[in-house]
Amino acid sequence: MNKEIVVSGIRSTGQLHLGNYFGAMRNYVRMQEAYDCYFFVADWHALTTHPDTSELQNSVLNVLAENIAAGLDPEKVTLYCQSAVPEIAELYLLLNMLAYKGELEKTTTFKDKVRANPENVNAGLLTYPVLMTADILIHRALYVPVGKDQEQHLEMARNFAQRFNHRYGELFPEPQAFNFGAELIKVPSLDGAGKMSKSENQNATLYLADDDELIRKKVMKAKTDSGPAEPDSEMPEYIRNIFQIMSLVSAPDVVGKFTADFNSANIRYGDMKKQLAEDMVRFISPIRERAVELRKDTDSLKRIMTRGAEAARESAGRTIAEARRLVGLNYLQ
Ligand code: TYM
Repeated sequence: MNKEIVVSGIRSTGQLHLGNYFGAMRNYVRMQEAYDCYFFVADWHALTTHPDTSELQNSVLNVLAENIAAGLDPEKVTLYCQSAVPEIAELYLLLNMLAYKGELEKTTTFKDKVRANPENVNAGLLTYPVLMTADILIHRALYVPVGKDQEQHLEMARNFAQRFNHRYGELFPEPQAFNFGAELIKVPSLDGAGKMSKSENQNATLYLADDDELIRKKVMKAKTDSGPAEPDSEMPEYIRNIFQIMSLVSAPDVVGKFTADFNSANIRYGDMKKQLAEDMVRFISPIRERAVELRKDTDSLKRIMTRGAEAARESAGRTIAEARRLVGLNYLQ
């Protein structure tokens, strides 16, 4: 029986962090046995916000090395770079005819990026969700492991898939955002505001490349207060965030102990952060060390991407031939 198809991508815009790991990469690793997986580095998407490409190649190779270090097996999944699969660009062009300016302008990520960088509101940024849809539909994927911040993009992908099917004929399944077990997740930053991110909040984001001392320093600086005055107080959001991060890397009985301490108004946040820092170091350091080793062998990483691109183009070629036929662009054959 054919396995169900999975696609996901990570932009090459900086170092990967705990949010990328728990929102996306951990699911990639868990899905690699049972699904037919296509995972890629979204370098075209990186260009929408990062016109300076001097660090691009290095960043692409880092993303690849960190994904393998996190447990992805290049023998089991197809790993490639988006720009090595030009069929994606052709599907993007076709889908652009089905995407309306009004809905693109209303996308949350677009509005955020316009606010952050008003002098570079380019058409690539506006049509970002269309390119992302092409990434997914080019392999006719059913599942897309992503963090919560990508939920709206997946909803748009389903709309564009439906519109194509309706206008030209049935070709695409409706892709679903995926997270093992429960809802999509958002890993919060350590300063009590927003989420961990590749480029903002760098002192409150834990990167997979951070060394042990830096991890300890960032965790110890996490925002806390003097603790609840009375038992069973409501937990402020910034404290809830620390508990959420702790539950990702610490043992359940450790989280249970500090939860009980909070509920009895006996918590010492200094102790909690020390424990979290050590658990975090234990979690991140093996990934970081493997990634450093893998990154030294650029030739191997390039070979993995070349092999991945060939497999990805085979699958993409089948879809784009069907798409051309359905749209009616096959008159030269
Ligand atoms: P990107 O590069 O911003 O992030 C890669 C993945 O990490 C997840 N993520 C998080 N999850 C939880 N908490 C956080 N703080 C956090 N920060 C990031 C993201 O949800 C994502 O799954 N548009 C995508 C890249 C992309 C893509 C695609 C994804 C391009 N084409 C096709 C899936 C399918 C992005 O910017 O991810």
